[in-house]
Parts: sequence; structure tokens; C-alpha cells
Amino acid sequence: MASEQDVRARLQRAGQEHLLRFCAELAPGPRAALLAELAALEPEALREHCRRAAAACARPPGPAPDLAARLRPLPPERVGSAYRGDAGMRRLWESEGFHQISRNKVAVLLLAGGQGTRLGVTYPKGMYQVGLPSQKTLYQLQAERIRRVEQLAGERHGTRCVLPWYIMTSEFTLGPTVKFFKEQDFFCLDPNNVVMFEQRMLPAVTFDGKAILERKDKVALAPDGNGGLYCALADHQVLEDMERRGVEFVHVYCVDNILVRLADPVFIGFCVLQGADCGAKVVEKAYPEEPVGVVCQVDGVPQVVEYSEISPETAQLRRPDGSLLYSAGNICNHFFTRGFLQTVTREFEPLLTPHVAVKKVPYVDEEGNPVKPIKPNGIKMEKFVFDVFQFAKNFVAFEVLRDEEFSPLKNADSADRDTPSTARRALLAQHYRWALQAGAHFLDAHGVQLPEMPSLPSSAEPPAVCEISPLVSYSGEGLEVYLRGQGFPSPLILDENRARVLQP
Ligand code: UD1
Repeated sequence: MASEQDVRARLQRAGQEHLLRFCAELAPGPRAALLAELAALEPEALREHCRRAAAACARPPGPAPDLAARLRPLPPERVGSAYRGDAGMRRLWESEGFHQISRNKVAVLLLAGGQGTRLGVTYPKGMYQVGLPSQKTLYQLQAERIRRVEQLAGERHGTRCVLPWYIMTSEFTLGPTVKFFKEQDFFCLDPNNVVMFEQRMLPAVTFDGKAILERKDKVALAPDGNGGLYCALADHQVLEDMERRGVEFVHVYCVDNILVRLADPVFIGFCVLQGADCGAKVVEKAYPEEPVGVVCQVDGVPQVVEYSEISPETAQLRRPDGSLLYSAGNICNHFFTRGFLQTVTREFEPLLTPHVAVKKVPYVDEEGNPVKPIKPNGIKMEKFVFDVFQFAKNFVAFEVLRDEEFSPLKNADSADRDTPSTARRALLAQHYRWALQAGAHFLDAHGVQLPEMPSLPSSAEPPAVCEISPLVSYSGEGLEVYLRGQGFPSPLILDENRARVLQP
């Protein structure tokens, strides 16, 4: 255990000795916990972190003043599409993707260290269930898509293949995530192929550069942003694990998109055949203020400009045909080669500039009383996962349909958008469309056929409830055999036991 003397000396070097001001009055347990927490903070890094936070805070808020002049949309030759152009090309990409998956060259990596503050739950977002008939959680849907992709790739190539699942967690999410996966028996995945690792935490800092004490015995720490991935990969030798398994291509995604296509063979195949080292899926932005980053170029270099950092004027710019000029919305689905990730962790990570968020951070006052501030009092610094795009040698973007691939769960149901209800609706609307495409029809309580809405948008309530297990279909394939020409009462649940119809 670190001695108080050692810790004090380290904090003095960092200019943060005030963090020990209640140490003497603490009981042995909390005291040891505080000392352990402080001993983990490297003095020079802590000093630099606090200095940078205060300096960033001294700059005027909002987008960099010259950003608008430096922005351009991505050139069309860098952008592929899942829905425009040649269907033959898409089949080629898909077949390449499955080929790579079948050779165990692909892994998926989930960013799951966030706190889910906007959703307002105290447990990891992946454990949330949005109220589907099956009551599946986001984690379960993802696990089942992994199993289905492995099966499809295996069937095509006559092999048994493995799609390892790497999960980046944080101090907030690691414990509950591990427990949940164990309780759920890893959703029938082999636990050896589910690798959880933890990102680093950073102190929140006052506007004058002092790390904040949240309690007498606890520093206010927050995860270092999803761009903390690159330090975490190095801290836990994750790339070495990938190398041992022969993984060459990594699909990185965020936890909250209920429609996420893990290891999407079309996207993987497109990126591989383009020789890309780095890629991003995009959807057309729905409206100028939509809280999604914009994939574009800054000074000719591919980047994402985050929604918090683009000015409203720039976000509203339109082309002559009325569409948004900066319309390529980031859905936090990225492709990286392992080689690129290796170069980033070895060379470029220190060059990433943290982003600043001004927040209300609970703290203890000079007398040791807990305070919940009513206005922002602190700074949190985060790195962003996409900030490495600037280092790519061959960056590509891939546009996909929102209705098929993007419905994020960000807010509680009291909000208008990106809520449990919108996510549930989007998934059920998709499954309803898939069922119709496969030749099913739905019946009302009297056995009369309901009107069909084959292009039902994800925002609309389907006329009939239909949920299809990812173990049966990954992206709408293979359903005819169960559904063609048949009428079903609502709800229809097509689960892994095949076409089990649940009566209301
Ligand atoms: C993110 C994207 C935004 C995109 C949007 C789409 C970033 C920085 N921003 O925004 O461009 O348009 O998703 O939905 O990627 N996470 C960690 N560790 C952290 C913080 C977050 O692992 O320290 C994870 C979260 O668990 C989540 C993902 O990163 O899976 C995205 O985080 P979130 O805060 O939800 O990002 P948004 O602001 O919604």
C-alpha cells in the first residue's frame, strides 16, 4: 500500500496536494482507498492534465473561429454506399467480408465505458432492455448477432469460425458488465472469446486547474472518453491478443445503437477491398442540429467534427438541391486494421488533443460538506475515438440507411428522440418490413388480413408486432422458409426455436 508520505510527495510534484486535506480525519478503510486512488495518478501526467484543462477553459467556448473556412465535405471517391449504385458490387463486398470473417481475421470491439448519464440509469447501458416482446437487452442482441454472423460465414465457407468480442469498460461499467455476462452465461458465447478491459479515468478539474474532491475520500474521476481506447489497448496488451488470434480487421462500435450490425460483412468487405486502414459508417443527417458528429475534411484531412463543436450556421449550410452540405452523420461504427491501431498506440496517441466539457461536478467544500452545484464548476477532458482518422493513409466512409442501421438509445423516454421507445419502434419496424419482404402477412383478431406497409419508416408504429431473433436473421436473410405465404396474428416472435408464434 502507498504511504501517505509518498502520495503527498507525488501530489506536491503535480501541484495537487489539496486532495489530501481531509486524509488525516478519515477512518482506515476510506483512507487506504483514497491513497490507493491517488497513488495511481502519475504526477507529471496529472500536472499536465490539470494545466491543460485550465488553459482550455481560458479559451472562448464554442467552435474554433476559423473552422468553417477549413471544412469541406468528403470527396465522393472516398465514400461507398450500402444502398446506391451497383448491387453486384455490394454482393462482392459482402462476400469478401464473410471470407475474412470465416478466416478468423475479424474482431468486434465495443466501446462501453460511458456512464449513460442522459439515459439516467445507474448500470451499464448495454444491460438496458427497451421493452421488446423478448425482453432482450442491448448486450444480448449484440451477442446473438455475433453468433449469427459466425454461423453465416461458417456455412458459406465450410468452416467453424470465431468472431472475438472485445469490450472496453471503465471503472463504472466493468464490475456490473462482468457480473451480467456471467449471469447470462455469456449468451452462449465462449467466454475465452469475450475479452473485457478497462479504460483509464481522469480527474475533473476546477476552472483554475485544481483536481476536484467528490467526497473527503474520493477524487471526482471520469472515464477519459472513448478515445481512451488507444491507451487502454496498450495498457492491456489487447493488440497482442488480437495478433495471437490472427485478427487483422476490427469493427469498433458504440453500445447504444439497437440496429448495429456487428462485423457487417458488407462494410468490412468494402473497407478491405478499398485497401482502407480506417473507415467510418455514416447516415444522412436527419436535421441540422441532430447530435451526431459530421464526417468531413478539415484542411483536406478526414476528420469528424463533433456536434458539440460545429457552429449552427455551418451545420445548416445546404447544397443547391436543398440537402445538407455536411450530411455525413457519424454513427460511431468504425473500421480499423490492426496495423493502423498498432501505429496509433505506438506513435500518434500522445498527439490527440483532448476535448473539453464544462460540467456540474459534485464536490466537498472547505469544511468537507458535500455540494451539488447548480451551475457548471468543473472541466472534464475526453479524447474521442475518431480523432485518429487524421492519421489514416487511406480513409473511407460508407453510407448506410438509417432505417436499417441507426437508432441510438441516448435519452430517457421523457425526451422526443433517441429514447427506449424510439429504439424499440425502430427494431420492430425493421422486423415488420423484413417479414413482409419474406412474404408474410399479418392478421387482425378476426383473422382478417391487415393492410401492408412495406416501406414503414423506423419512426412509425408497425401495424403488427413482429420480433425476429438475430439468431434467425442478421439482416433480413433466410426468412422466406418460415414466413412465405403465411398469415400471422400479432405479435409474432420468430426465435431460435423457429417461428414460435406467441398469442396475446
Ligand atoms: C457519439 C459520437 C458521435 C456520434 C454519436 C452517434 C464520439 C466521441 N461521438 O456521440 O460523433 O454521432 O455517438 O450515436 O464518438 N464511451 C466510452 N468511454 C467513455 C465515453 C464514452 O467507452 O469515456 C462509449 C459509450 O459507452 C458509447 C460510445 O462511447 O458506447 C459513444 O459515447 P456517447 O457519449 O454516447 O457519445 P455521443 O455523444 O452520443
